[in-house]
Amino acid sequence: MSPFQLTRTLPLDATGAALRADVLAGLLHSPKTLPPKWFYDARGSALFDEITTLPEYYPTRAEREILQTRAAEIAAATGARTLIELGSGSSEKTRHLIDALADLHTYVPVDVSESALTGAANTLIASRPSLNVHALIADFTRGLALPGTPRPRLVAFLGGTIGNLLPAERSAFLASVRTLLSPGDALLLGTDLVKEESVLVSAYDDGSGVTASFNKNVLHVINRELGADFDPDAFSHVAVWDREHEWIEMRLRSLVAQTVKIPALELAVDFERHEEMRTEISAKFREEGVRSELAAAGLKLTHWWTDERARFALSLSVAR
Ligand code: SAH
Ligand code: TRP
Repeated sequence: MSPFQLTRTLPLDATGAALRADVLAGLLHSPKTLPPKWFYDARGSALFDEITTLPEYYPTRAEREILQTRAAEIAAATGARTLIELGSGSSEKTRHLIDALADLHTYVPVDVSESALTGAANTLIASRPSLNVHALIADFTRGLALPGTPRPRLVAFLGGTIGNLLPAERSAFLASVRTLLSPGDALLLGTDLVKEESVLVSAYDDGSGVTASFNKNVLHVINRELGADFDPDAFSHVAVWDREHEWIEMRLRSLVAQTVKIPALELAVDFERHEEMRTEISAKFREEGVRSELAAAGLKLTHWWTDERARFALSLSVAR
């Protein structure tokens, strides 16, 4: 096997067909919604990387702190020879884990963003030429076809990305991850924790407007891919804490009454002044909730680590 391989399990036209279906369903829904995985084209991935460096966006720093502190324990507990990372993005924090896993044979980053995958793989291979990197362009919410690599397997899902799934999607997702794990394998899961509202809201509505640009990027994607005429300046970014569901909800608010045309869907959509559409949720967790959601998927939590200030948690679990 060559040290770097890129496999596309998403057909090239899948993006177009899935985007059309998702956008149509979301805009016909009341209230309107837009599907979050379409944030991450090349520009979206670059904007997300910029978010991770913002002073207000603590999750990346908190999770990196845990990885730095606990990488050796994770390595000892798992002895992983294959590391599969779902929604790997830049793989920047993962470096701590890769460096600690002495027996690591192959790293399998999985992402919908091809630009993020190739960028991450190039950086990794330059610093660790002996590591096999088998990148997969795939949707982690669909069944994954993984390469046949040595066990034990460690599946990592970092960044709190699990919080971007709705509760029903989350339980289906965890059940599908469970099917990837045999005895001896493990799941490393990053979850952002419930905390003071003002800290949460600032993390998703930063002072320099990077998160606003990231949220509005989905409009650029729809304009480019579906020929729509969304004016991103005619929408504002909104982030609210939903106390009942314990999630941050990202929305785009139409600043004026307007009609948007989407030729590829043969659709014209009316927005009322101040009408809001939901673009993404980011759920926040508590230890007991994580433990019971894992248990419902047939997984047993074995370790729970937080950063010093208990803002973020990493958990390790195994198949029951
Ligand atoms: N793990 C990185 C990136 C988190 S951002 C970190 O912790 O910083 C979420 C990542 O998941 C993005 O790279 C995005 O492209 C990817 N992603 C989002 N939805 C996805 C899906 N359905 N399937 C695969 N990757 C997805
Ligand atoms: N997984 C990230 C999170 O929930 C994604 C994210 C960060 C995000 N900032 C955002 C999604 C702003 C939409 C808008 O923290």
